[in-house]
Amino acid sequence: MNISIVGAGYVGLVTGVSLAEIGHNVVCIDTNKEKIEMLKIFKSPIYEPELEELISKNVKEGRLSFTHSYEEGFNNSNVIFIAVGTPSKENGKADLSAIENVASHISNFIKSNVIVVIKSTVPVGTNEYIKELLDKTNNSRFTIDIVSNPEFLREGSAINDIFNGDRIIIGAENNKASRVVEELYKPFNIPIFTTSIRSAEMIKYASNAFLATKISFINEISNLCEKLGANIDDVAIGMGKDKRIGNSFLNAGIGYGGSCFPKDTSALVQIAGNVDHNFMLLKSVIEVNKKQQMSLIEKAKKRFTSLKDLKIALLGLSFKPNTDDIRDAASIVISEELLNLGATVTAYDPVATKQAKKILNKNIYFTDSIEDAIKKANCVFILTEWEEIKKFDLSKLTELMIEPIVFDGRNCFTINQVSAHIIEYHSMGKESVINLN
Ligand SMILES: NC(=O)c1ccc[n+]([C@@H]2O[C@H](COP(=O)([O-])OP(=O)(O)OC[C@H]3O[C@@H](n4cnc5c(N)ncnc54)[C@H](O)[C@@H]3O)[C@@H](O)[C@H]2O)c1
Repeated sequence: MNISIVGAGYVGLVTGVSLAEIGHNVVCIDTNKEKIEMLKIFKSPIYEPELEELISKNVKEGRLSFTHSYEEGFNNSNVIFIAVGTPSKENGKADLSAIENVASHISNFIKSNVIVVIKSTVPVGTNEYIKELLDKTNNSRFTIDIVSNPEFLREGSAINDIFNGDRIIIGAENNKASRVVEELYKPFNIPIFTTSIRSAEMIKYASNAFLATKISFINEISNLCEKLGANIDDVAIGMGKDKRIGNSFLNAGIGYGGSCFPKDTSALVQIAGNVDHNFMLLKSVIEVNKKQQMSLIEKAKKRFTSLKDLKIALLGLSFKPNTDDIRDAASIVISEELLNLGATVTAYDPVATKQAKKILNKNIYFTDSIEDAIKKANCVFILTEWEEIKKFDLSKLTELMIEPIVFDGRNCFTINQVSAHIIEYHSMGKESVINLN
């Protein structure tokens, strides 16, 4: 099938590459010329395991190409995926301007009937609204059908997720369009669930809101564990053994971040508000998360009284491991608050430093190694559970820091691991280890 993907970001690029890998002819369109130029020389503009290898393989085998021109991109297309961003506006609503922009170009350049598949996360009713826009502006002799096909991949394991996803959701306005999209996905051999367009749109928000709820829930339990002398690791294992609960998404920490959960939870609160529904549970989930992001700072303030003039090393800046994505990462609000409190901040991340330099405060000292970040530091904040951080030799903390004091926001180490070292270790939902002599 000839497929165009509009938006070569985390979702669009991974989708395009994967559809090419299963044999489709794919052209990825992006208005960001710099991205397109990089892709043309087989360089991925984002960090995602396995992605660069698959880009160069599929381009060389003639199934994948890149352009910034809609005319070139839509020329041969039977199916157009829209995977542009839908960020939050100031008021929490989803900003649909990029999708509207793409929709306004479609009929000008198509050369046959097409199916437009909206992969971006959009509020319930958006597909119908875009369909109206498409019909209104359709000056071609071709028909344009619309299909909602929300995406569930996770950054950091996106390629694996596309090939081994739990489900593919297809919400279509008619059976013909649905069948074409089902057919296109068949080689992945993943269960397909077909439904109405509105239900498909809702499945995406409900899924993200539920996962965010699970995270805020376990974080509240973790805060209680600290006060009551229980161990959150054991509590989570014990809970997860119940099949009705399951053991995923029960890691206590400094809350969720990234480009999806914060914006999608806010958008769902807005969507509910539009139909006079006060989504109280989700509002609390968001509040708990905001508070949780500040929990390491609260612990450090208790320990040191004042953070003024302390040197604090941040380890991990991306919102989760194996990605360079900094959007809505806890590192943004934590570093800002530490600087406000008068601390000196050093920071290290294995791959996200380039992105972090664009977004984080200019007064942060970025380093090229953990060792350089922690040298002569008064304490360390662990913000992302990168393998490199989890494997770090803790005896180096004693060697290099003024005092080896760690606030671990991702529970990278067990109490047994740290107990063998000269260290003061504060983590989430567990007793602190104070072993400085
Ligand atoms: N990132 C994720 O993990 C993830 C997972 C599931 C769903 N989603 C959803 O998928 C959508 C895309 O997210 P993303 O993280 O891939 O975003 P992204 O910011 O990484 O990528 C969006 C791309 O679209 C391009 N673009 C913007 N306007 C354009 C236009 N008019 N024409 C052509 N290209 C244009 C941008 O240059 C950018 O490269 C969002 O709605 C998001 O909520 C994201």
